[in-house]
Amino acid sequence: MIDKNEFQNKIKKAEKTAYKAIFFSFLASVLLLFAAYDPTFSIFGNKETALTYSDTVENKNEDKIENGVHIRTGLVDAEGLITVVNNCTNCHSAKLVIQNRMNTERWNTTIKWMQETQNLWDLGENQEVIVNYLVTNYPPIAKGRRLNLTDINWYTLKK
Ligand code: HEC
Repeated sequence: MIDKNEFQNKIKKAEKTAYKAIFFSFLASVLLLFAAYDPTFSIFGNKETALTYSDTVENKNEDKIENGVHIRTGLVDAEGLITVVNNCTNCHSAKLVIQNRMNTERWNTTIKWMQETQNLWDLGENQEVIVNYLVTNYPPIAKGRRLNLTDINWYTLKK
């Protein structure tokens, strides 16, 4: 009788151990799967680090510059670029900015017009940065009549 009880106890113990093993391997695989989906475990707090990480990655892609051109907007990479991107491409495309070649005075007038009628914010010190960028990189193109020719070497036709 004692032997039989002992045997039964051993079986039960073995059974319990087996259940435990199954339970833990199940737990381990769940953890593994979780780790595969969310390697930083960002679901458990730690949100800030996760956000800054993706933010920097996004910003890097958003402000990518290739061959001297800001890819997202098509603006030329030069001093003041990011200020222009941040203030002038929110409401309309940068194309509208680029295709209008003006001098300093006309830019200031256009900005004033947008501020008065289109809800453009006060640009503060950035206005000078922006206008300088525009005048330097997108200077006005001389329109209308070409200048008179000078310094021409007329030659006489031979008879
Ligand atoms: C708050 C919104 C807003 C912002 C920001 C903004 N604009 Fe505009 N802008 C407008 C609107 C609206 C128009 C009119 C668009 C149209 O006619 O389709 C306009 C028109 C223009 C035009 C065309 C003007 C014309 O005479 O046809 C230029 C050039 C321009 N914007 C340049 C800029 C520059 C440079 C900046 C940055 C300083 C800027 N915009 C920022 C709203 C904005």
